[in-house]
Amino acid sequence: QIFTQPINKRRFMAIFFWACFVLAMPVTYGDLSYSVAEEMRLHSIIGNIAKDLGLNVRTISSRKARLDFEDTNKRYCDINLATGDLIASERIDREALCENKASCVLKADLMMENPLELHRVSLNVQDVNDNSPTFKNNLNHIEIQESTERGSRFSIEEAHDADIGQNGVQRYVLQKNENFILSSGNNKVELVLENKLDREKQKDMNLTLTAYDGGSPQRSGTVVIQITVLDTNDNAPVFSQTVYKASLPENALLDTVVLKVSASDADEGVNGEVTYDLGHNSKSDVFSIDSLTGEIRVNGQIDFEEKTSFQFRVEAKDGLGLSSYTKVTIDLTDINDNAPIINIKSLSNQIPENAPPGAEVGIIHVQDRDSGINSKVRCLIQQNVPFKLMPSFKNYYSLVTTEQLDRELVSDYNITITATDEGSPPLSSSKTVHLTVADINDNPPVFEEQSYSAYVTENNKPGSTLCSVAARDPDWRQNGTVVYSLLPGEVNGAPVSSYVSVNGDTGVIHAVRAFDYEHFRSFKVHVMARDNGSPPLSSNVTVNLFISDVNDNSPQILYPTPEGNSFMTELNAWLSYHIVKSTDPGLFTIGLHSGEIRTQRDISESDSMKQNLIVAVKDNGQPPLSATCSMYLLISDNLAEVPELKDISYDERDSKLTSYLIIALVSVSTFFLTFIIIVLGVRFCRRRKPRLLFDGAVAIPSGYLPPNYADVDGTGTLRSTYNYDGYMTTGSRTSDFKFVSSYNDNTLPMYTCHVLLQFFPFSCQS
Ligand SMILES: *[C@@H]1O[C@H](CO)[C@@H](O)[C@H](O)[C@H]1NC(C)=O
Ligand SMILES: *[C@@H]1O[C@H](CO)[C@@H](O)[C@H](O)[C@H]1NC(C)=O
Ligand SMILES: *[C@@H]1O[C@H](CO)[C@@H](O)[C@H](O)[C@H]1NC(C)=O
Repeated sequence: QIFTQPINKRRFMAIFFWACFVLAMPVTYGDLSYSVAEEMRLHSIIGNIAKDLGLNVRTISSRKARLDFEDTNKRYCDINLATGDLIASERIDREALCENKASCVLKADLMMENPLELHRVSLNVQDVNDNSPTFKNNLNHIEIQESTERGSRFSIEEAHDADIGQNGVQRYVLQKNENFILSSGNNKVELVLENKLDREKQKDMNLTLTAYDGGSPQRSGTVVIQITVLDTNDNAPVFSQTVYKASLPENALLDTVVLKVSASDADEGVNGEVTYDLGHNSKSDVFSIDSLTGEIRVNGQIDFEEKTSFQFRVEAKDGLGLSSYTKVTIDLTDINDNAPIINIKSLSNQIPENAPPGAEVGIIHVQDRDSGINSKVRCLIQQNVPFKLMPSFKNYYSLVTTEQLDRELVSDYNITITATDEGSPPLSSSKTVHLTVADINDNPPVFEEQSYSAYVTENNKPGSTLCSVAARDPDWRQNGTVVYSLLPGEVNGAPVSSYVSVNGDTGVIHAVRAFDYEHFRSFKVHVMARDNGSPPLSSNVTVNLFISDVNDNSPQILYPTPEGNSFMTELNAWLSYHIVKSTDPGLFTIGLHSGEIRTQRDISESDSMKQNLIVAVKDNGQPPLSATCSMYLLISDNLAEVPELKDISYDERDSKLTSYLIIALVSVSTFFLTFIIIVLGVRFCRRRKPRLLFDGAVAIPSGYLPPNYADVDGTGTLRSTYNYDGYMTTGSRTSDFKFVSSYNDNTLPMYTCHVLLQFFPFSCQS
């Protein structure tokens, strides 16, 4: 190539002509050699052949000198036959002809005719710096790990310069930078890492590498080396804070987010992906961390009372395992979640009832596991008990009595102690203690009455009960157990104990002997009731005893005989008889004073065969005494039916005797029948009235009167009006008559007799 710049061209021409002058010397052996600069301008004169061969210009022209180039049909030069000059006629490019050979010679034959003459012509093509160094690409891309060590080398393809020698690439210059220096030589161009790369500081860099040749003027070529720093996991995650702090109310719900830690990693991709975890020594079931978001959540029960603050480490880790740690402090705040606890430190469960007011009966300790105001506890007990709580040091209270106790009024207390803290809302708890009041013998026995009176009939049985006294003692057990005793005293000069005795346990007073109304009519005894306490307490009572003469004889049924074969002929008083109860109330009457039982009307067949009467007899005494007798009557017209008597008898115990009596009765009846039929049958032949079988007086021998009745009336005989028209049935005498004689017994004496009536069915005509 030819320089086109005017200033360079002129300079080049000067060098060119100088070279032609030196090099274009004639070859004496007939060979010609010329030095020719490549890229010479066409038609420029390389040399003068005529002069170099020592020939005349005309000769050259006439002998038709011409050049033939070997191995090519290109004609690089021609001979100007007019002047004999060798003229460049075609572009000569050394790089095309000889590439990078050190010497580049074009050879041609110079032929002249007439005579044929051959000369060899050599054209030494001289290099001209017409090529710049070039790189293969304009952009050279290199990826380098940022972790690459210092001194590492990165080859760059060399620049190429078609020129040779000094005109070839002589040196390289790298754009100034912080990391790389250039190392060239030995056909190698290398970037040497002088300072370590940091992707995080500079990820990409473009360095310009310039290659210079040694020509003059110098030529150069550049390449841009684009360096991409590849990430290495050389950055650990970095937390946004070195210490994280949070406060959390205790009992926070599960999954509550407490705080969020965050760490960033300058690396990229997986090297910068941060995951979080709790430090290995901080693993707990209380908190959990979201490995992706860094949120710390409540994962379990947190109790301020167990732990007031948590400290643990959180690890942030990037994808390839670089980690860093931060400290997390979570302080809990107290919530009033613990009710106060009442501890009974000591309790005397038996308080003597004479304990003075203010006596300490127990010590109570109250605690609340919460803190601050939540643990401030007030303690009280219910109003209506004679106790109070006295605050002592710290959370201790004394339970003391406020007044004198009385076991006989209230024997035990249930005291409910309530403790309330001052949290909001306040919590409280309560405990009930049971206190028993122990007995003291502070109550003497007290008689139920101020004094007692007893009335005794004279001639009482020794040992009979006169009356009883009772005293009460509300004290407990032996302190309330009452023992009765007579206080010593005298009655008519004899010790009182010879008259009466008292049962120590029951307080029943018994007569020791029979009293005599004529001897004395009243006396007093003093009974003491004493409890078994120690010392015992006692009290006295007066018992007045009155001896009296009383109506102690009851009326008695004279006949049938109440007892044995004795008869009662006279009664103490005016007796009156009544039918209390009868089977047919209109059938029988009884004489008020005679005691005669009569029929009131005719007995008909429609009347019941069996009649039952209860007869009461009453005396005129004050109070009146009475006795009753039940009579069983059998109305029959056929004495063969008499055995039916058995059926109406309420007592069949002595059936044998009964049957004897029936036999006797039947005999007597037969006798009477005959007699009456004969004597009266004619007089009352038209009469068909049934009659009482035993219509007639039966004299009762006075000798049958009971002996003890003799004194009552003094007569010793029974008037005829007292005779009964009736027969006793069997068993009556022995068993049906019961004689009850207790003077203070109000039951009526009861007698039972059976009477048999015969119905006469015949008439006068028959
Ligand atoms: C105290 O409590 C006990 C048990 O609950 C009960 O049997 C007793 O009657 C109570 N006493 C009083 C005085 O309330
Ligand atoms: C009876 O009272 C006394 C004190 O007067 C006392 O020491 C004793 O324990 C009491 N007895 C009972 C059974 O309570
Ligand atoms: C009981 O009687 C005794 C003896 O007479 C007497 O000393 C005492 O004071 C009496 N006590 C009462 C409570 O009346």
